Amino acid sequence: MPGIAFDQAADYYDQTRGFREGVAEQVRDAILAYTGATLSTRFLELGVGTGRIALPFIQAGYDYTGIDLSQPMMERLESKLSQAPATPGQPRRYALFQGDVTALPFTANSFDVIIAAHVLHLVDGWQKALDEAKRVLRKPGFLMLSHEEQKPLTVQPETPNVNRQWYKILEDLGVKHAELQPGIRPQWDSAKRDSGLVDYLRGMGAQVEDVTLLEYTTPPLSPRQLAQRHIDRMYSSDWHLSDEVHAEAVRRFKTWLDESCPEPDKPSSVTSYFKTLAATWPQNSKS
Ligand SMILES: C[S@@+](CC[C@H](N)C(=O)[O-])C[C@H]1O[C@@H](n2cnc3c(N)ncnc32)[C@H](O)[C@@H]1O
Repeated sequence: MPGIAFDQAADYYDQTRGFREGVAEQVRDAILAYTGATLSTRFLELGVGTGRIALPFIQAGYDYTGIDLSQPMMERLESKLSQAPATPGQPRRYALFQGDVTALPFTANSFDVIIAAHVLHLVDGWQKALDEAKRVLRKPGFLMLSHEEQKPLTVQPETPNVNRQWYKILEDLGVKHAELQPGIRPQWDSAKRDSGLVDYLRGMGAQVEDVTLLEYTTPPLSPRQLAQRHIDRMYSSDWHLSDEVHAEAVRRFKTWLDESCPEPDKPSSVTSYFKTLAATWPQNSKS
């Protein structure tokens, strides 16, 4: 398998990664502003999923193609589109393909902006995915490798870092976070271990910029609600843990919640950033 298909997450994915109302539109507008895209720009999203990023583009009439290993994830996207009111005079121009980002079913130079949000860490053979993205991108183009990052908790100390605690427990049990997923993460500033991504892009002749496209706040959640997601194995990083390791991690996690976590039932929002590694190529570079 060249990646991790999210079939099992289709029903709950939007609960775990959903934005507050209006934020998805702000993400779209930030991408449009950064790339200078217009209605004639051709977008491709790698690992389009349930359309968390795609939906506002499609609703606003942009020419948008998505590809994903998971048909059930894209069926959610279709179902959300069918429920969303169409914009009068604005036809929807989109196409969805079930397929693998390491073998794109598109001809060279087909797209002007390629977006991959929260995907490369799942892709076994992420280098091939980047080679393929470069091939189908019309140069100079924009390849936008996006992820979300919490504002440092030193700046918002009222928010206990539940995820960090979970991964610390796993680490104590001999499981390394970085080994839970086959791909690479674009957090090259905050996690230098993954700077291989930038090196690879530069080796492909790209100019790379690390941009923070948006600052936003997450929907309010209590530490216990957040913890429940790991207990229920909702995140893909927990899918491959053995039952024994998961059960022991849950036991330690619940002890931490009850005994050490400040205010485990108090919901709070976290300030986060929508960050992107934006790669472009010289106009005449080869696919
Ligand atoms: C974490 S979700 C992100 C979805 C969307 N980009 C977003 O930001 O909400 C990752 C998606 O990538 C898909 N995926 C993983 N490996 C893939 C691959 N090799 N080719 C295509 N899609 C892949 C999964 O099925 C899943 O829908």
